[in-house]
Amino acid sequence: MAPKRCSRVVLVPCPFQGHISPMLQLGTILHNRGFSITIVHTQLNSPKPSNHPDFDFQFIPEGLSKQEIASFNVVDVILALNERCRIPLQECLIQRESREDITCIIYDDLMYFSEEVANHLNIPSIVLRTSSAASLLSRLAILQLKDEGYIPFPDAMSQDQVPGFPTLRFKDLPICNFGTPENFYQLLAHMCDIKTSSAVIWNTMDCLEESLLVEQQLKQFPIPIFTIGPMHKFAPACSSSLLKEDSSCIEWLDKQDPNSVLYISLGSMASTNEKELAEMAWGLANSKQPFLWVIRPGSIHGSEWIESLPEGFMETVGERGCIVKWAPQREVLAHPSVGGFWTHCGWNSTLETISEGVPMICRPCFADQMVTARFVSHVWRIGLQLENELERNEIERVVRRLMVEEEGEEIRKRAEDLKESVECCFKKGGSSYNSLSKLVEFMLS
Ligand code: UDX
Repeated sequence: MAPKRCSRVVLVPCPFQGHISPMLQLGTILHNRGFSITIVHTQLNSPKPSNHPDFDFQFIPEGLSKQEIASFNVVDVILALNERCRIPLQECLIQRESREDITCIIYDDLMYFSEEVANHLNIPSIVLRTSSAASLLSRLAILQLKDEGYIPFPDAMSQDQVPGFPTLRFKDLPICNFGTPENFYQLLAHMCDIKTSSAVIWNTMDCLEESLLVEQQLKQFPIPIFTIGPMHKFAPACSSSLLKEDSSCIEWLDKQDPNSVLYISLGSMASTNEKELAEMAWGLANSKQPFLWVIRPGSIHGSEWIESLPEGFMETVGERGCIVKWAPQREVLAHPSVGGFWTHCGWNSTLETISEGVPMICRPCFADQMVTARFVSHVWRIGLQLENELERNEIERVVRRLMVEEEGEEIRKRAEDLKESVECCFKKGGSSYNSLSKLVEFMLS
């Protein structure tokens, strides 16, 4: 049942690429189901309203200084957003002429101040979890281990299994080293604890995480959960990229053999240094595999773009390599020439990769990426994890293991099987498809 277009949903995304995308996808999905959509967004990393002419965009000032934004201390930035956006969001909603038409507020779990505003204005709220169920459970585990005195843990324990979560080793726990530990634990406690929201939306799938979703529901309040991933498959035309995509790489991909290209991207936030860059470059060159490499401007410390690539590298790889600043990633992953993805295991990238059946080389950088890398390599077994310091011989070896050796073939087969299971989830009658219908009914009830 589609609602009359008067039911309005207010969406509050967290202003980072990996969080804006799923929220805009959710907006598109709900708009297609008949809801009117208002996006309340900060000026920081503001999305382009022209890409979403059907949405109403309301911008609120977040009051972050240039230094705060440039600090890369994500924990403190998110804490500050929660302190400084509460009143602006409240005022923005109060000023609306017809507040009564707001069905609910859906907020990113990092923007937990929205729940307080919703309560104050007597509007129901729903949380959107933009990462995996495994990552939420790992965060709950951190809080418990801290209370039990296991954290901080000594180096000697880094390979030990986490009590109660044996898939993970202590080193896989998403402990952030930005800012002070107190601030990190404060943020974690807030994002894990849903006090009064009426439901949770998950961008994941039963075929990946059903038992973990049940476990998290047992550990948290028994409110309804709606598992509707992978959301990008329900909203294929939704464009949410903050950076300009360079589509010339698709022409380059068209010239390559099927399954031959390794695609490399470390997402929208991770960075690297010159030494690691050199090891990556020579590892790729020595692997002899064609590669498409996204190097985001500013992602190599001390460089604007690729001026610190090692001397002789470009000449050595010639036409075998293609480097861009930002790629149309979903199109790249769906391209028949792409046979592997060296990824940082951000959750969106992981869902996009699984949806196309592409096997992975996992090189997580921080936060939930470590948890996801462990699940990709050891639970779903659709990738190889590159651990330890980056070293060219090891990189060459792992690239060849994935792209040319029999081991890689087996991994590819599992990735293709998982792709089919994911398709079953989002096609008519599948678990995500049904869950989405139930979400719409729930929102209207
Ligand atoms: C951040 C966190 O690092 C991650 O762990 C968390 O799960 C979400 O937020 P991010 O670095 O943004 O992740 O990675 P990811 O979640 O994978 O999102 C990146 C998005 O950018 C993907 O949707 C991807 O398709 C897109 N992208 C990336 C491009 O469109 N082009 C590119 O060249 C690279």
